[in-house]
Amino acid sequence: MRIDVVSIFPSFFDALEVSLLGKARGAGLLDIRVHDLRDWTHDRHRTVDDTPYGGGAGMVMKPEPWGEALDDIARDTSERPVFVFPSPAGEVFRQSTARELAHAPHLVFGCGRYEGIDERVFAEAASLGEVRLISLGDYVLNGGEVAAMAMIEAIGRLVPGVVGNPQSLVEESHEDGLLEYPSYTKPAVWRGREVPPILLSGNHGAIAAWRREQQLERTRLRRPDLLAE
Ligand code: ADE
Repeated sequence: MRIDVVSIFPSFFDALEVSLLGKARGAGLLDIRVHDLRDWTHDRHRTVDDTPYGGGAGMVMKPEPWGEALDDIARDTSERPVFVFPSPAGEVFRQSTARELAHAPHLVFGCGRYEGIDERVFAEAASLGEVRLISLGDYVLNGGEVAAMAMIEAIGRLVPGVVGNPQSLVEESHEDGLLEYPSYTKPAVWRGREVPPILLSGNHGAIAAWRREQQLERTRLRRPDLLAE
């Protein structure tokens, strides 16, 4: 899978060199390229923002550098890319969104800052590929970078081969619409706290039933909205 990222803070993405995604990049499973939006400016100050038409607080990202950046990146592959613009005004990112996007051969993340990107950039991107505005959740970040990092990790780990044991992708929160069951390891008693005895019983049927019950109970308590779905 190829992933391009456009940002005015490319160093945010240095962390993609560590851990599982770092290994996947080294192994050629993920081809991640991070670009500085300012490389597509042509003035001495490498300007990427300007005041909003109609007035109001803050600055808006200018369309010209974005247009050139997206053209160059789209031209670089034969596939029509999926453009993801992290935005608090987008659809909410879920595990199902990650699953969908993990099938795309080419993702392009456009990270906005300030009050956002000139709206015409999204229409322009739609002439080059599919466009998705996606929010990490109902809160506001200072820009799209942290949201893009979270999405890249959630999507990247679903690409075959990135996570060593595929079974570990199945048995986790949100894969079956429920929260994950609680996990324990040795010692069996720690600071007087015992591991639930059922897990030491060797009775695999009873353990599976207990874990399911735990999943339902946790979901009822912490995320009743998931059960309603
Ligand atoms: N940019 C700013 N806030 C955001 C959010 N909640 N999700 C995605 N991108 C954002």
